[in-house]
Amino acid sequence: MGFCLGWGGAWAFELPVSLTPDSEDDLIIGDRWDRVPKGQKGYVRRGDLAKMPTAKTVLDRIWPTADAVKMTVVPMADVVKTLGAPEGMDGVVLKCADRWESWLPFHLIKDHDPYLLIYYEGRSPTDKEGWPSFLGIEDLAPYYAFVSPKRFPDFVDETPFGMISATQITELGLANEAERYAPFFAGKLANLEGPAAIGRDLFLARCNTCHQGPEEVGGNVSQRPFMILQTHAVHNSAHFRNMVADPKQFYPQTIMPRHPDFEDEHYAALIAFITATAEP
Ligand code: HEC
Repeated sequence: MGFCLGWGGAWAFELPVSLTPDSEDDLIIGDRWDRVPKGQKGYVRRGDLAKMPTAKTVLDRIWPTADAVKMTVVPMADVVKTLGAPEGMDGVVLKCADRWESWLPFHLIKDHDPYLLIYYEGRSPTDKEGWPSFLGIEDLAPYYAFVSPKRFPDFVDETPFGMISATQITELGLANEAERYAPFFAGKLANLEGPAAIGRDLFLARCNTCHQGPEEVGGNVSQRPFMILQTHAVHNSAHFRNMVADPKQFYPQTIMPRHPDFEDEHYAALIAFITATAEP
């Protein structure tokens, strides 16, 4: 991939990164960043993020149908810039409290300038009134990343790997896309064609934020090892299909979404892909 954001120029500001947490309110930084030694985690304070030179208070919406409120945000691009991405890294891994994970490539950061929310109407999530919940279903806190509905009214949050908008971010990782997703494209998965290849793209875009794929790449909200998905897809494809179409019929409380846009070919593609991963 090797996409480069091409950030040049002077950037005198250095965000303080501590190697021990200061509070539960810190943003955790993975060890691939320049500013964090191998094998360790870095911790950034909310107050220091707010002091970044490009932090600003905007009148905007947390999601397209919400009311506009005053929010203090910092451009994700500048967070990347101050933390330092070594040569070859080409995206950020958004890691969330419930083990949801999404891949945010640098080119999407460049095109859509996502913000990291620091204060909502001047409040941090730990303040008395805290932050509102996202669509009434889940917390935004501790950190929330989003594309401004005001600046990009037509933006549709669909990427090849999950979503840009993410609630409950606890940690920013860093990776190289080809390296991170290599297990999806290696060995018996190297030459997939037709439905199996389409199924791989679908899995990456629609399932991998919550379901780990081959070699445990991806989020793990589901707490289902990939082997469970393989078993359903290969031996119990009717259940697999019913589950993906309407998970709430089996798990009324589940956060796994329904997939009303899926048709026969989507299920066939997912099953072909997962079956290919299970072939001896
Ligand atoms: C928002 C998170 C989320 C997404 C996205 C998601 N799932 Fe799930 N999935 C879950 C959770 C959580 C469970 C476990 C059920 C539970 O206890 O809620 C689960 C369980 C499953 C199971 C196991 C069912 C069983 O009976 O054990 C299958 C199969 C599955 N998901 C397939 C998929 C596929 C295929 C996709 C993509 C098209 C997908 N899921 C997208 C969260 C998600």
